[in-house]
Amino acid sequence: MPQELKIVYYVEPDAAALARRAAQYFVEQAERAVAARGRARIAISGGPTPKATFSLLADPAQPWRTRMPWSQLDLWWVDERCVPPDDPDSNYRMTREAMLDLVPLQPEQIHRMEGELEPEAAATRYESELRHSFRLEGAELPRFDVVQLGMGPDGHTASLFPHTQALSELGRLAVANHVENKDAWRVTLTWPVINRASQVFFLIGGADKAQILNEVFTGPRHVERLPSQLISPVGGILTLLLDRAAASLLPAPDAQSCGVLERIE
Ligand code: 6PG
Repeated sequence: MPQELKIVYYVEPDAAALARRAAQYFVEQAERAVAARGRARIAISGGPTPKATFSLLADPAQPWRTRMPWSQLDLWWVDERCVPPDDPDSNYRMTREAMLDLVPLQPEQIHRMEGELEPEAAATRYESELRHSFRLEGAELPRFDVVQLGMGPDGHTASLFPHTQALSELGRLAVANHVENKDAWRVTLTWPVINRASQVFFLIGGADKAQILNEVFTGPRHVERLPSQLISPVGGILTLLLDRAAASLLPAPDAQSCGVLERIE
């Protein structure tokens, strides 16, 4: 049956305001999950964009650091580059430097993808950790409270790159994915896992994303070329946190800087 996807986007004036909006969003979603279930299970992405948000969350001079229910969080990654955890390319390293070293999270709350392992082994180990931690049985998928995604200028999200094997993976929780044009391996959550989350949001900033953002969300469906179009959360709502430069080709938002697009899946 066709499902309707509501894409709700919020537009901030610049990168700094976008980082603040995202920090606020993370805290609100974590509080909501903790109030409902006593725990917040969050999966985060890499790349340069979320770094400013992670730094704000960790900053004692900012309100979010005090509000975040750190002791009730479980932190997971959406994807990882296949490099050791201290490599400058490691998503884990970026997050550790921006946030983890500065906040009261215990090692058992931090579930990193082991990029230093052989890629398939790293994916299998991550999958086992997910099964164990979410107490999954059989073909069950984990349900994250919040998944934060980014989008590359080629339309990739997580490490679901255009025309790669991982796009057709429906049964696994995490897979190794070879990205030919980067000549690199990645480990990534699969898109059915991302879509099962309670809340999924994209954090996207910068003029270089305007064109692809518009194409992904208002253009025809072509998931092999635009893997971000695979993201369609089961709850029927997808949130986009954007800066003005990234949102410049989308329909103008309303007076509250909010816009809505609808798509039939
Ligand atoms: C990664 C990612 C990736 C990222 C996009 C966008 O490891 O690179 O998790 O999917 O989110 O490439 O990154 P930026 O928003 O930082 O450009």
